[in-house]
Amino acid sequence: MPVGSIPVLLIEDTPSLARVYAEFLKKESHTVIAVETGADALAQLEDGAPKVVLLDLQLPDMNGMEVLKRINAQALPCAVIVITAHGSVKAAVEAMRYGAYDFLVKPFSADRLVVTVRNAVERLRLAQIVDSFEKDLGRARYHGFIGSSLAMQAVYRIVDSAASSRATVFITGESGTGKEVCAEAIHRQSQRASRPFIAINCGAIPKDLMESEIFGHVKGSFTGAVADREGAAARADGGTLFLDEICELAPDLQTKLLRFIQTGTFTPVGGSKLEKVDLRIVCATNRDPLREVEEGRFREDLYYRLHVIPIHLPPLREREDDVLEIARHYLADFAAEEKKGFLQFSPEAEQALRHYHWPGNVRQLQNVVRIVAVLHDGDTVRLDMLPAPLGSLAPAPGSPGTPAATPAPGPAAPAARPPAPLTPDAIKPLWEVEKDAIEDAIAACDGNIPRAAALLQISASTIYRKRLAWQAEGKL
Ligand SMILES: Nc1ncnc2c1ncn2[C@@H]1O[C@H](COP(=O)(O)OP(=O)(O)OP(=O)(O)O)[C@@H](O)[C@H]1O
Ligand SMILES: [Mg+2]
Repeated sequence: MPVGSIPVLLIEDTPSLARVYAEFLKKESHTVIAVETGADALAQLEDGAPKVVLLDLQLPDMNGMEVLKRINAQALPCAVIVITAHGSVKAAVEAMRYGAYDFLVKPFSADRLVVTVRNAVERLRLAQIVDSFEKDLGRARYHGFIGSSLAMQAVYRIVDSAASSRATVFITGESGTGKEVCAEAIHRQSQRASRPFIAINCGAIPKDLMESEIFGHVKGSFTGAVADREGAAARADGGTLFLDEICELAPDLQTKLLRFIQTGTFTPVGGSKLEKVDLRIVCATNRDPLREVEEGRFREDLYYRLHVIPIHLPPLREREDDVLEIARHYLADFAAEEKKGFLQFSPEAEQALRHYHWPGNVRQLQNVVRIVAVLHDGDTVRLDMLPAPLGSLAPAPGSPGTPAATPAPGPAAPAARPPAPLTPDAIKPLWEVEKDAIEDAIAACDGNIPRAAALLQISASTIYRKRLAWQAEGKL
C-alpha cells in the first residue's frame, strides 16, 4: 500500500505550528487532515478508517488524552503519536499506557517528525496485512457463529462487506442453520449496532395481527386496540428490522411491505398520518424463495426488492469439522449449566457426530449435546450416550448399554401414555395439550426447566415465553 493512502490526522491548536508540520509531511507525500480542537478530531475519527494521529495533548476544548482514550476504547485502527511540551514526560508515559504508539517532545526537528510518522504508517500497514490474513485464513468465531470451515468463512466475509450498507439482505438456509444468528451478526457488524435490532416472525403471528405488528396501530382501530401501539418498523428506526420466515407473509401484507420499501413510509393500522423511518431490512426463509415466486405465493416485485444481497447458510453436513467445534463448545456450556464433568467426546462419538447428516442442523446438534449433558455424566461422552439415531449409528463393539434404534435412553425419557379412547367432548384445545405436556415434563424433572426443555427438544426460553403468555391470558 502506498504511504500516501493512510492519512495523517494532525490535531494541533497553534496554527503556525500546524502549518509547519503539515508542510513537512506533505513534502513526504502524506495526506494531512488538520484540525484544531478535540471535538473536530473525534468527528474525523468517526469513519473508523486507519489513520496516523499526531495529537497535541493541550487542546482548547479538552485534554488530548481524552481523544487517545476514545481511540483506545473503540479499538480504532490508528497509530497515535503524542506531541508534548518540553518537560512533560510524565504525560507522555501515561499516553503510552493508553496505547499511544510514540511521542514527540516539542521542539522537534523535521527529520524526527518525518521518521516517526513513516514508522507509524508502516506499523499500521503491517497491522492491516495481518488483519486481512486473519480474515482470509479463518475465524473460528464470528459474532454468534462458531465454525472455521471454508463455507462459513465465505459467509463471514459477505457479512463483513455487506454490514456497512443499507441494502436489504436475504438469508436462505435449511432450518437450524443459523439464519437468525446471521441477521444479528449483520446488525452487530454495522454502524447501526447501537440502535435496535427488531425481529418479527412472519410465520408465528396470526395473519390479522401481522399488519399491526409491523406498522403499529392507533387506539380503537380494531377490537382489542385499546391504546396506540408502535409496530416493529417504528421501533427499529435507526436500526435493523429482521423479517423472519418472510415467505409466510400474507399477500396483502406483501403489497404493503413493498410500498413501505419503495417509499420508506407507512401508515399505522387505523391511522391517517404517514410515518417515515430509517431502517435496514434483513429477511430470512428456509423455503426456496424463487419457487415461492414461481408458484405465485410470493410477489415477484417484492422478491427482487428484498433479494439485494443474498446470503446462503450451508447445511451443517457441508461444514467440514464445524460440527465438532460447535459440539465441543456446547458440551462445555451445557456441562457447566448441568453441573456435569464432561470434558470431551470419545473418538467413536466424534466420528458419529461427524458422519451424521444433521437434518435439523445446528439446532439439532445443540439438542443432542443438551440431552447428553442432562441424562449422563462422566468426563467423556461415549457413543452410547448419544441419543438415537446417533448412538445407534455405529454401535461400539462390546458396549452392552448401546441402544438399538430406540429413543433417547435414560430414566427421564417420558413414558408413553396408554392411548385413551377419545370421545369428542374429551378433546382438549391444542394449547392445553401443549401446556399439559410442558407442565408434566417440568414436574417429571423436579422443576428443572432447562432439563425439561431438552427432553421436549425445545429451548428453555420457549417454555418461559409460553408460561408468561399463559399467565397473561389467565391459563396458568
Ligand atoms: N454456527 C453456529 N455456531 C453456534 N451456534 C449456532 C450456529 N448456528 C446456529 N447456532 C445456534 O443454533 C440455533 C438455531 O439457530 P437459528 O435460530 O439462527 O437458526 P435458523 O436458521 O433461524 O432456524 P429456523 O429456520 O428453524 O428458524 C440457535 O440456538 C443458534 O444460536
Ligand atoms: Mg430462524
